[in-house]
Amino acid sequence: ELHTVTTLPTARQPGCPFDPPEELIDARRHGPISRYTFPGGKSGWLVTGYDLVRSMLADSRFSSRKELMLHPTVDYSGIEIPPAAPGEFLLMDEPRHGRYRKPLVSKFTARRMGLLTERVQQITTDHLDAMEQAGPPADLVPAFARPIPAIMICELLGVPYRDRDRFQDHVESFMDGETSDEDQIAAVTATYEYLTELVAAKRADPTDDVLSDLIDTDLTDEELRGMALVLLAAGFDTTANMLALGTFALLRHPEQLAALRADPARTDQAVEELLRYLSVAKTFMRTALEDVELAGQTIKAGQVVIASYHTANRDPERFADPHALDLHRRADGHLAFGHGIHLCLGAQLARVEMRVAFPALINRFPTLRLAVPAEEVALRPETADIFGVKSLPVTWDV
Ligand code: HEM
Repeated sequence: ELHTVTTLPTARQPGCPFDPPEELIDARRHGPISRYTFPGGKSGWLVTGYDLVRSMLADSRFSSRKELMLHPTVDYSGIEIPPAAPGEFLLMDEPRHGRYRKPLVSKFTARRMGLLTERVQQITTDHLDAMEQAGPPADLVPAFARPIPAIMICELLGVPYRDRDRFQDHVESFMDGETSDEDQIAAVTATYEYLTELVAAKRADPTDDVLSDLIDTDLTDEELRGMALVLLAAGFDTTANMLALGTFALLRHPEQLAALRADPARTDQAVEELLRYLSVAKTFMRTALEDVELAGQTIKAGQVVIASYHTANRDPERFADPHALDLHRRADGHLAFGHGIHLCLGAQLARVEMRVAFPALINRFPTLRLAVPAEEVALRPETADIFGVKSLPVTWDV
C-alpha cells in the first residue's frame, strides 16, 4: 500500500536527537517507498527501506546532478539551478564525476589514512590537555569535536589551519540549516576567493600535500578550487558532528559508554554502530534520468527520490532491534557513508579520527557528563543537511 509522507524527511523525533520521526518509521512499515511532495508542489518519492536505498544508489539511472535536484526543505519553483561548478564532483554523474574522484582515491585509502593515526592521536591529546588545563565545564564542540577533523583535513589538503577564519564558518554554514540562501552564496564566494589564492600559491610553490600533488595533473585551477571546496566542506562538518553527537549519545546510554571504556578492543565496532545509529548525513537526493520501476512504483523521468540513509539504517529487516544503540552489534553494511560511486571518499579518514578520539576522550575524563539537562542541549534545526548539536556543555570531576 502506497503511503504519503508529510513529515520533513530530514527531521528527527521531537525530544529525541537520535531517532527518525515516528512518521518515517511508520512509512517503512507500509513499504520501502513512499510518496513525497517537495516544497513548491512537485511530486517525488522517499525511499526508507535499506535494500531499496542501497540498490538505488548503485543504479546509474539515478543522477546526482545538481541542476536536476530538488531539496526537501527548499522551494525551488521558478529558480533555475546551475550545474555543479568544475570540481564539485559530489553533484555530478560519470564521466565528469570520475575525472575528479579518480585522482583522489589513492590519497584516501585505508592504508594511507592508517598512517595518520599518530598525528590524530597527537592532535587529540593536545586538545584534551587544553580542556583539562582550562578545567570544567567545557563546550565539547569548539574544544574537541570541531578542531580535530578540521586540522586533519587542512593538513592533508595543504590548507593552512591558521587561515581558518577565512573558510571554517563559511563551510559550516552550507550545512547548518540556519543560513539563508543569500548568505550561503556569499559564503561560497568568499571561500572560492580564498581557495583561488591558495591554488595559485600551490602552483607557484608546491608543498607536500594533496592539493600540491594535483597541480601536476591536467586539472585546471578552477577545477582544483572546486575539489578543495568539496573536500573541506565534507571533511569538516560531518566528522565534527559525529564526534559531538556521538559523545552525547554515549552519555545518554551509560551502560554502552561503560562497555566501551572497559573494552577498547570494541572501538572499531562501536564506531560503526554510532555511524549507523546517528546517521548524521540523513538524506541525499537522486533524480531519475528515465522512467524506473522501484518496488512496484514507476518513478517518472525527472522525478526526485529522497534516499533516507537514517531510516534505512534503522530498517528492522536489516538490523534487529534497530532503534537500540548496541555497541555489541555488527553494524557493518550501514549506509551512513552512502553507497555506490559517491560512497564517502573520506570514510577511512573519518574512521581513524573517531577510533582515536572517542576512546581518548572517555578515558581522559572517567566522570564526563552533561553540564546541562539533556533537553537543553542545542540541536541543529531539522532543515540541516548534516545533523548534530550546536554545542555540548560537559563537565567532570577534578
Ligand atoms: C560523500 C558521509 C566524512 C569526503 C559522502 C556521502 C555520505 C558521506 C553519506 C555520500 C553522498 C551521496 O550519496 O551523494 C560522511 C560522514 C562522515 C564523512 C557521515 C563522517 C563521519 C568525510 C570526510 C571527508 C569526506 C572526513 C574528507 C575527505 C567526502 C567526499 C564525498 C563524500 C569528497 C563525495 C564523494 C563522491 O561524490 O564521489 N560522505 N562523510 N567525508 N564524502 Fe563523506
